Amino acid sequence: MYAQVIDSGGKQPKRPDDLSAEEKAFMQRIDANEKIEPKDWMPEGYRRTLIRQIGQHAHSEVVGQLPEGNWITRAPTLERKAILLAKVQDEAGHGLYLYCAAETLGVSRDDLIQRLLAGDMKYSSIFNYPTLNWADIGAVGWLVDGAAIMNQVALQRTSYGPYSRAMVRICKEESFHQRQGYDIMMKMAQGTPEQKAMAQDALNRFWYPSLMMFGPPDSDSVHTAQSMAWKIKINTNDELRQRFVDQTVPQAEYLGLTIPDDNLRWNDERGEYDFTQPDWEEFWQVINGYGPCNRERMDARIKAWDDGAWFREALAEHGKKRAQRQAKAVNA
Ligand SMILES: [Fe+2]
Ligand SMILES: [Fe+2]
Repeated sequence: MYAQVIDSGGKQPKRPDDLSAEEKAFMQRIDANEKIEPKDWMPEGYRRTLIRQIGQHAHSEVVGQLPEGNWITRAPTLERKAILLAKVQDEAGHGLYLYCAAETLGVSRDDLIQRLLAGDMKYSSIFNYPTLNWADIGAVGWLVDGAAIMNQVALQRTSYGPYSRAMVRICKEESFHQRQGYDIMMKMAQGTPEQKAMAQDALNRFWYPSLMMFGPPDSDSVHTAQSMAWKIKINTNDELRQRFVDQTVPQAEYLGLTIPDDNLRWNDERGEYDFTQPDWEEFWQVINGYGPCNRERMDARIKAWDDGAWFREALAEHGKKRAQRQAKAVNA
């Protein structure tokens, strides 16, 4: 998902007999669906895994603005421009809630950003694909935000209080994002043959990268068991991917568009669709920095950080002066 490959430290959860008294009490709270709050005791692995997961989620929201921001100046109408602008601003807000949630775990936002810029933290692979035309903005809203919701709705029940509360706010906005994307697709699918062809082409290019958003297959996800035991992760990657396919296929049919998968078939026995897995080789290439836009995205983030240096310095100076003035006022 927005945090696709998260190292939880251990491969398997500890056996009950191997837990310390503190760990046992902690797991009892998790099992009773109690929320864990910042000042509560938590295992170091839980804290570390959450920092990585929430941090990567925050980075994804922020980097996710880039492919869509690219089209704000070229939106076809004033109304579409205003809607896209609002959507991209929402994503900045999501990034900020999430950096704040991560900070409650004792890491600073600057530190998280430095780790991203140094290549030590990642963001979702999906944002390394280019948005070539306006139909892509529709496909991103429909499929990428659609996939994001699939994961984030479940994460509202995650065990860490600040993360779960951030998800509640974010989900309200994500459903608007998905609808605006679907609305663009609908307009284009019902438009001229050229517009319909553009919508189909966007679906062709974004389908498999969207399936990759849920992360590698469960058989290759060595950290899932621990994260699920901690309720940091609620569903497995394959469960969410299946749910996304089952939800999206009828939506594509309604648009009169074809999912680019010859093996896509309703399986009556299982009560869900059979579908072709994405190219996992490509997924690892993109995760490891060799996708079509990795360089461009990181360059944009590094430039934004460098361009903001004067502002951060000015803010820090202003803060210092204000503190001095207040100290003087108290002493006077
Ligand atoms: Fe978002
Ligand atoms: Fe979104």
